[in-house]
Amino acid sequence: MKNALSWIFVLFLVVSLLNNCLNNTVQKEIRQKEGFIANLRKLYSSGDSSSWPKPILDPETRETFSEIGHLPETEFPKDNLYSEDKALLGKVLFFDPRLSKSNQIACASCHDPELGWCDNRTFSFGHDRQLGSRNAMTILNVAYARSLFWDGRAGSLEEQSQIPIQDEREMGEHIDMAAGKIARIKGYEILFEKAFGDKTVTKDRISKAIATFERTVKSSSSKFDQFIDGKSDVYTNDEVMGLHLFRTKAQCMNCHNSGYFSNQKFENVGTSLLGEKGEDLGMFLVTKNPADAGKFRVPSLREVAKTGPWMHNGSMLTLADVIQFYSKGNPEHGQKRSTVHQGIALASEKSGMVRMLELTDEEISQLEAFLRTLSSKTERITPPELPK
Ligand code: HEC
Ligand code: HEC
Repeated sequence: MKNALSWIFVLFLVVSLLNNCLNNTVQKEIRQKEGFIANLRKLYSSGDSSSWPKPILDPETRETFSEIGHLPETEFPKDNLYSEDKALLGKVLFFDPRLSKSNQIACASCHDPELGWCDNRTFSFGHDRQLGSRNAMTILNVAYARSLFWDGRAGSLEEQSQIPIQDEREMGEHIDMAAGKIARIKGYEILFEKAFGDKTVTKDRISKAIATFERTVKSSSSKFDQFIDGKSDVYTNDEVMGLHLFRTKAQCMNCHNSGYFSNQKFENVGTSLLGEKGEDLGMFLVTKNPADAGKFRVPSLREVAKTGPWMHNGSMLTLADVIQFYSKGNPEHGQKRSTVHQGIALASEKSGMVRMLELTDEEISQLEAFLRTLSSKTERITPPELPK
């Protein structure tokens, strides 16, 4: 009996010793992890990006890569310099549905300031409630985009602004008719005079004013901007880890880099659905170069939490879905990936930079937490009073 008792005692001792040991290792691991994050926090919020940990980049992007950071000052083109009056006229035109055939659809219908300057729909609807075939992009920070639209078919905001006015499925109006209508509205005379020196309304002036207004629609300082400027306690541990993963293991910075979070290039991430329902040939439609089939503009990730659903076709409903898609390296299971378009054989060649990342669930939520810090506060914009 005595023997059995001592055995139980010994067993108890061994179990509690083991338990203690295990606890100690777990504690040690937690301490190490916390130390690691604390160190990252210090480096990333030092105010000096040259002290940040080295990013993980592909050889092909190392030369052209530019580090993430603040947005630079807005530049206005020489032939369309900024003036307050021009931006104001542009704002009024942006909100004026009389630029459309039905007098019902304004630019702001699909680029709504309360909805992240887009419309949060998979596809926008326009004239006669017809559906378009692409997801509306935000115009926030569009001043920094070097080419416009998902396929880059417009080179400047001045050129871009006439396209939706004339698009049958968007505003459905002839640009000369639209300009004529604006010219007949008395209240516009003073606005054109202040912006351009005389009251003449031309389609060119309409474009210039809208473009000037769009260049003023810019993010204010986000949590990310404050953190890298030295406010080290604004980020949670998950956000710090998300930023680090974005630059390293998840390799997002191969494409989403610079203060604009885009390399301004066109890449194929395997989303074009060639040969399938919903096919979109992307940049090929503009260049007619078969190598561009399935390439889309790398979108900025600033304000990305406000601009869902995501991708050119709004096919992804959550940010976690987007990150999962990258984590799996987009295997394109069961997709055809080829088609014949007007006699030209096209095949979608996914970028080699989209590969298995094997992110854990924790890492996926950390990346998402980081992406959410790229939004700034939504500012209330009072729609302007429309001239009569
Ligand atoms: C019916 C909805 C709708 C209307 C109205 C509309 N847009 Fe858009 N806008 C879109 C869609 C959809 C896209 C993306 C189209 C594409 O890539 O083919 C887009 C893209 C843009 C872009 C490109 C952004 C970028 O990052 O490349 C700009 C700028 C823009 N629109 C400005 C305007 C202006 C200015 C007007 C008014 C003259 C306007 N839009 C009217 C739906 C609309
Ligand atoms: C090979 C270049 C490349 C890499 C690497 C890459 N992206 Fe993208 N990203 C793109 C392109 C191109 C699109 C647009 C695709 C489309 O519209 O079909 C996109 C779209 C997105 C979108 C949707 C944005 C929107 O406005 O709809 C998010 C979010 C995003 N990427 C996040 C990430 C994250 C997070 C990573 C790292 C895990 C990453 N990307 C890695 C090129 C890349």
